[in-house]
Amino acid sequence: MNKSILFETYQLGGLELKNKVIMAPMTRSRADQNHVPTSIMAKYYEQRAGAGLIITEGTAPSPNGAGYPRIPGIYNQDQIEAWKPVTKAVHDKGGKIFIQLMHTGRIAHPLNLPEGAEVVAPSPIAPASTEMYTDQEGSQKIPVAKEMTKKDIDQAIEEYVQAAKNAIEAGFDGVELHGANGYLIEQFINPGSNRRTDEYGGAVEGRSKFALEVAAKTVNAIGADKVGIRLSPGGAFNDINPFDGQEETYYFLAKKLKELGLVYIHLVDHSSMGTPVVPKELKEGIRDRFEGTVIISGGYDRNTAASDLEDGLGHLVAFGRPFLANPDLVERMKQNAELNDPDFDTFYTPGEKGYTDYPELETSSSVG
Ligand SMILES: Cc1cc2nc3c(=O)[nH]c(=O)nc-3n(C[C@H](O)[C@H](O)[C@H](O)COP(=O)(O)O)c2cc1C
Repeated sequence: MNKSILFETYQLGGLELKNKVIMAPMTRSRADQNHVPTSIMAKYYEQRAGAGLIITEGTAPSPNGAGYPRIPGIYNQDQIEAWKPVTKAVHDKGGKIFIQLMHTGRIAHPLNLPEGAEVVAPSPIAPASTEMYTDQEGSQKIPVAKEMTKKDIDQAIEEYVQAAKNAIEAGFDGVELHGANGYLIEQFINPGSNRRTDEYGGAVEGRSKFALEVAAKTVNAIGADKVGIRLSPGGAFNDINPFDGQEETYYFLAKKLKELGLVYIHLVDHSSMGTPVVPKELKEGIRDRFEGTVIISGGYDRNTAASDLEDGLGHLVAFGRPFLANPDLVERMKQNAELNDPDFDTFYTPGEKGYTDYPELETSSSVG
């Protein structure tokens, strides 16, 4: 049959992955208004359990981190209980699943946050070019976030740690810290959104401190084998831009993350979505300094993915939109079958339409 490096097994820390095809984290906004997962989410992830590893949609580690409507959280018991059927469904199908912990920081609107929560960020700089959808009033300008005090920072770190413990209680195989795409961790890393003059700002060490403290404490709480991180070096999203000295920053982070023993770095490249091309040398530089498992992602198809893995750019490859529209993506790639196109209009709408109703290949007439 179809032999490809993509379909080989891979040892990721203590987990044996059945292939190297990873489902990329994708926000689908199918949780309820209180950020509690719904039963259709178990079906959605179960359908995609053919992936070597599923990384869930961005999930709020705290009320302050729940900046979008209907994204799930993992900060209270209702949410933990509601995630259990998801992890069980994926495990029953022989899959593995990490949860992505996404604190939205300044990319949030107060209308989307739970009662009493607030929009916080390293510095009080509103993301000028970014609007935010709210269920109540449609698209809204994002207000200026509250500048985090040292106490707020300590609290946010503790929230990640507690969320990671909650994730293990809910049955996840591990967590991915969302350090990419302009959310809280990247808001600290990037000098455009971090103008702090205390120990969490300024030079490389200062801007990296929040990310590294979150990583270190999460590792202490649940074990390095269960903690990965997503980074978007050179990326441009949510009012974050490439910056002078980004190599130095990301190479420093890669070395420190290696010392902490994180199980993987997941690199984002959104140039297929119209953002600037991420230099290949930057990805290679991070890979060489981290020395552990690297997941590459962004704009891949079966052939380009296999070719970049063969070339050693990364060890595993994540697919986003192809997985969204093709629950049986791995099987389709094995058979070189045609892929369904994703329906943009239903990316973030409630309900099963455009979520659990993408057709799978006919199995009854499968090749003999
Ligand atoms: C609907 C949608 C939601 C997304 N949500 C997230 C998210 O929650 N966290 C994240 O890190 N990336 C998110 N992404 C980015 C994807 O993980 C991925 O990097 C991107 O789609 C490029 O990969 P692709 O070309 O294979 O789709 C999202 C992408 C899409 C299309």
